[in-house]
Amino acid sequence: MTSSFRRERLQDLDARDPLAAMRTHFEIPAGLIYLDGNSLGALPKRVADRLESVIRHEWGEGLIRSWTQTDWYELPRLVGERIAPLIGAAADEVIATDSTSANLFKLAAAAVHMRPGRKVLLTERGNFQTDVYILESLASMFRGGIILRVIERPELIAAIDEDVALVVLTHVHYRTGEIFDMAGVTAAAQARGALALWDLSHSAGALQVDLNGAGADMAVGCGYKFLNGGPGAPAYLFAARRHHEQLRQPLSGWAGHARPFAFEDRYEPASAMGRFLCGSPPILGLAALHEALAVFAGVNMADIRAKSSLMGDLFIELLQPDCARFGLTLVSPTDSRIRGSHVSLVHPQGFAITRSLAAHGLICDYREPGAMRFGFSPLYLRYQDIGRAIEILRHVMTEQLYNQAEYQRRHAVT
Ligand SMILES: Cc1ncc(COP(=O)(O)O)c(C=O)c1O
Repeated sequence: MTSSFRRERLQDLDARDPLAAMRTHFEIPAGLIYLDGNSLGALPKRVADRLESVIRHEWGEGLIRSWTQTDWYELPRLVGERIAPLIGAAADEVIATDSTSANLFKLAAAAVHMRPGRKVLLTERGNFQTDVYILESLASMFRGGIILRVIERPELIAAIDEDVALVVLTHVHYRTGEIFDMAGVTAAAQARGALALWDLSHSAGALQVDLNGAGADMAVGCGYKFLNGGPGAPAYLFAARRHHEQLRQPLSGWAGHARPFAFEDRYEPASAMGRFLCGSPPILGLAALHEALAVFAGVNMADIRAKSSLMGDLFIELLQPDCARFGLTLVSPTDSRIRGSHVSLVHPQGFAITRSLAAHGLICDYREPGAMRFGFSPLYLRYQDIGRAIEILRHVMTEQLYNQAEYQRRHAVT
């Protein structure tokens, strides 16, 4: 049980929390502790209303007329405008479309064309797998002309030489939550003539990101994690304005043409980020993400960061005395200055523990091998939820409930 001292401390933090009222904007099932907003953000209530209206009125009644009578056509840019302030970009530097994987392919290919004569794409070992897969297949299309080099983190800076066209890194590591020094790595890449591309999937909406302050060249990121855009929400991409007119998009679909409705035989890219559209934009997904982003209006990102850091600190502080006896290994930094918005614990039975926690009202997620991620979404979590999460975790570990057969069964999605 939570000691009364601890309970009072957490209640006091909730009472003084400047973001406390934000929870009312979200649907959170009663009795559930949801520490998985780093994977799929909770549903903002206003998204359900917006989708109802888009489906029933704009689609149901407006039919094809809604392409001109509503904001459908502009949605990729309008979503980009709402994401821009969250990532330190200007409104015309961000557009929302496709998945993070597809957007990474488009930008990395554009980077290769911007650095002729350089043949290396550089990333770190243990980066999120889609980033590595995409770079690998992009390189293979050049039949030896481009190669992917995958380097251990401590050797990364030294590996940036005059052969490197592009450095691709995830700002907050998906497994450990460690934050990369965006400004430092970007400067090191650019000093050697390379470009730097950042995957912001675990950063945007959870901590202050300053792409332009860091001089970043390019970025991509997910819409369904801390931005709460819903399952499979469209992703976004950023390119610094100074690069816009040189960017060559490999997926030259009609939606990225300068004049899609002129039906011309020759492709001519749209100006700026518009060229990164490929096919027809997914209106339902974009409308959901656009509405979800409205929740951030007027919210101070420093408050979000402070709360998420403190939640991570509390989680570690409350659990650490028990880690050794439970066989849990903390793989996230204890220093919140270099930790993003999730904390990961490794255990050989991590998968079964994750499932038994869910059965007891605590949702986190699982990443092979052995890692359980606990994400802190400051917009809808209370400090008391951290105390309750620790209680559930302690109960499951003390009783070794994860050994029960029902928790060992694997699903396609973990
Ligand atoms: C760091 C990172 N990049 C990319 C992705 C995948 O993005 P998408 O499914 O939009 O391609 C994820 C998904 O979890 C991720 O964590």
